[in-house]
Amino acid sequence: MSATIEQDTTPAPRLIGEAPPSPSGPAPEDGAPLNLPPALDGSRALTAVRVSVRQIPLLFRARRELGDTFALRVPERPRNSDERIYFLSHPDHVKSLFTNPDLAPSATSDSPLRPIVGPNSVLTTIGPAHMRQRKLLLPPFHGEAVERYTQMIADVAEREIGAWPLHEPFALGPRMQSITLDVIMAGIFGVPDGRPAPGTPEHGLRRMILRLSWLTATPVGMAAELMNAGRAEPVGLTKRLLARLDRYLYATIAAARARDDAQERTDILSLLLAARDEDGRPMSDAELRDELLTLVLAGHETTANSLAWTFERLLRNPAAYDRLRESVRAQEAEDDGWLEATIHETMRNRPVVPIIGRRVQVPWQLGEHRVPAKSLTLVSIALLHHREDVYPDPFNFRPERFLGVRPGTYTWIPFGGGIRRCLGATLAMAEQRVVLRAIARRTDMVAPDPRPERVLNRNVTMIPARGARVLVTSRQP
Ligand code: HEM
Repeated sequence: MSATIEQDTTPAPRLIGEAPPSPSGPAPEDGAPLNLPPALDGSRALTAVRVSVRQIPLLFRARRELGDTFALRVPERPRNSDERIYFLSHPDHVKSLFTNPDLAPSATSDSPLRPIVGPNSVLTTIGPAHMRQRKLLLPPFHGEAVERYTQMIADVAEREIGAWPLHEPFALGPRMQSITLDVIMAGIFGVPDGRPAPGTPEHGLRRMILRLSWLTATPVGMAAELMNAGRAEPVGLTKRLLARLDRYLYATIAAARARDDAQERTDILSLLLAARDEDGRPMSDAELRDELLTLVLAGHETTANSLAWTFERLLRNPAAYDRLRESVRAQEAEDDGWLEATIHETMRNRPVVPIIGRRVQVPWQLGEHRVPAKSLTLVSIALLHHREDVYPDPFNFRPERFLGVRPGTYTWIPFGGGIRRCLGATLAMAEQRVVLRAIARRTDMVAPDPRPERVLNRNVTMIPARGARVLVTSRQP
């Protein structure tokens, strides 16, 4: 055994490499002209649609044809000073954006989530308002606080796994979503086990969230997303659905305000209700609404789909799957190395959030290129994670590349980075560990269709197109 373990913990240098350096950052005031990255040809309207629904093939093609840094032309919007959006995927370029948050703030006003979660949340504010909210929200998402949820996550996962059908194909994605939604409802609203009682506003809210997220993966939902792209306020179907969801959310807030046990509660809503700004003012209902909806939406679909992708990948890579089952089933298995490496490799190979945006306030150097102030610069996490120089054999799923290796701050960025790094990363990692371990321990599964699942773009996420279909062949008690 020791021989295997020694082998296992040896870093795999051949599988992680380095990109050649590339100068990047605020451009020096040297009077040099701009040098815009090359742009992909084609109709602007069609490009905008492709970015929404066929993004991955489009970006990989653009990089093949144009190189590391390129532009896409999209329909001009009044807010943009330039109709081009710039895509980058070099670690040095990423670092320059993450380490200069004042000069390259988050492009939140362009996020497709903006019309849904509103202007007041930690996701959609920038500058001091953002930092205030981050400071307020960090403690409940910190390691020790997350530790408290571990048993609850395990209980929810065991209950869910016990209800799965045997020898009958089903999509894992929605089952994972049920687990992660329970976890987030428990953490945010203090609902025991995350399952609100029928008739409560939290129950209606849970139903509406599931409806909203189901809709966004359908053609109607995608059309609604396109209609809402670039808007500050929602329109059409999205607006109608949100109005119904808001009724439940505001009722939940009102019920929490009326409670008299706030002192003893540790849920995030109670914490936000007790918060005061520098003038001693509490948060308004509209501010609370935006914050809570952001946390619920950002906090469950992402983790659920990352777990769904993990099994989509494992079932098509039997050696990795066998090794995971062996390692979690071995009685003495204290070492989580392979489990952790599996999570890291899934998040590299299938990053659920494939793009993050920053808007540079001054001209920016990106290698040999220079883009103007106010440009929208998008980091393609998927392209970065598939660089041949950083990850040799990038398209293959090889957890061993992360064995005994700490993922790089600017080369492995499924949670983004800098002052906008995902607030729920610790919780998401804890959930993935606990749920992955429970499923791999108790079940044996196969893929009903051995072909890899395509990527489906859903709002800011990419998910398995068929929901990660599996068939459970056996289940231990
Ligand atoms: C596997 C699961 C998850 C992934 C892949 C993920 C990914 C991301 C990414 C890429 C960002 C943007 C970072 C940037 O712009 O640099 C982000 C932001 C955020 N995430 Fe997550 N996330 C996950 C789970 C969660 C969970 C469980 C929560 C809990 C509530 C959460 C809450 C947030 C919030 C509030 C932000 C905004 C942070 C800010 O702008 O300061 N996420 N996430």
